[in-house]
Amino acid sequence: MAPKRRMTVHLSHLRLRDFRNYAKLDVDFTPGFHVLLGDNAQGKTNILESIYLLATLRSFRGVGGAQMVRHGQKGYFVGGRVVSTAEHLIKLYWSGTEKKLSLNDQPVKRLTDYLGVLRTVVFCTEDLQLIKGTGRIRRRFLDLLLSQTHGSYLPLLQRYAHALRSRNALLKQRNVDESALDSFSGELVRLGTEILHLRHQLIPRLSPLARLAYRRISNDAEELRLEYAPSVHGDFAVELARTRGRERVLRSTLVGPHRDDVQLFLNEKPAGQFGSEGQKRCLAIALKMAQAEYLTGLHGAPPVLLIDDVMGELDVKRRSGLLPLLERAHHARGQVFMTCTETNWPEELGRELRRWSVQSGSLRGCS
Ligand SMILES: Nc1ncnc2c1ncn2[C@@H]1O[C@H](COP(=O)(O)OP(=O)(O)O)[C@@H](O)[C@H]1O
Ligand SMILES: [Mg+2]
Repeated sequence: MAPKRRMTVHLSHLRLRDFRNYAKLDVDFTPGFHVLLGDNAQGKTNILESIYLLATLRSFRGVGGAQMVRHGQKGYFVGGRVVSTAEHLIKLYWSGTEKKLSLNDQPVKRLTDYLGVLRTVVFCTEDLQLIKGTGRIRRRFLDLLLSQTHGSYLPLLQRYAHALRSRNALLKQRNVDESALDSFSGELVRLGTEILHLRHQLIPRLSPLARLAYRRISNDAEELRLEYAPSVHGDFAVELARTRGRERVLRSTLVGPHRDDVQLFLNEKPAGQFGSEGQKRCLAIALKMAQAEYLTGLHGAPPVLLIDDVMGELDVKRRSGLLPLLERAHHARGQVFMTCTETNWPEELGRELRRWSVQSGSLRGCS
């Protein structure tokens, strides 16, 4: 039997209009490895941000649309052509008064139809917060991954957030309407139980991938383990009812998936507390690599990797561990976009990479 050909997905064209410091950009990209080189504040990260935006409709810098509009302009346009088994044309326009998203020139009505077209994994300095930050950051990581893999997850999450807000609003009233509260509790439990279930399934699958990635990058002997730390351990309805007394005092919903966390252990010690700075950086990268490997395993095609300035942060030993991981992505014929300054780009990667020079909002191919 002929070996099954791996599916690939790549961004073959990017078009920007009035996006950040790009007045006008039209550029073609091949599959494979792209290095964006340039001094600070030239627009390297902005390119990655626009690609991530196409994939998720969000900025990985956590800002809203207005900040991405080029200063003095009304709105931005980001367009892309994605090539997989078929070609997909994406057009996204945003202004203070108008938002338009189309796929193959048809307006997108349901996000679930859209979010699988382009999958990306971003690596950036802020990833360190996955280790150092609060549970909210790790929940967001889980939620993004589940949204990338389950079409129904995002709407589920949005409905849960809505039920939670309504329930909390009720709890804040002076005389709580018990029957209304019961009906929101029912909704919360129904939606929350589904979320808990999906997260329960995900973590044991992610943990071994993260462990392997960590081992490859760090060369350390430490073993990484991820453990789901749900706020609900048994039956959500029962545990919610049990907190009713405390809710009356604190006036908000105290248990549920909105309080979940993921614990990270290095040799069974909490990494956030005991890990060194270098170990934490590696761990953050390992989590992102695990995300990429998980997506590849599930969808048969590697996600587009967006790597922002991480080479500069790693010491030589750890850099040498990251490169094989990037090579793997490369050999799977995945697409990688990586930003660097002239002084820290990975010459070790050598031959097959495509170099681009980024200078005050323009992109020029240089090899
Ligand atoms: N909304 C905007 N309109 C115009 N320029 C912007 C906007 N947002 C950021 N910039 C400019 O983009 C540049 C930073 O781009 P960035 O991609 O972060 O640089 P780097 O090459 O260091 O990654 C800065 O010159 C900044 O002034
Ligand atoms: Mg940058």
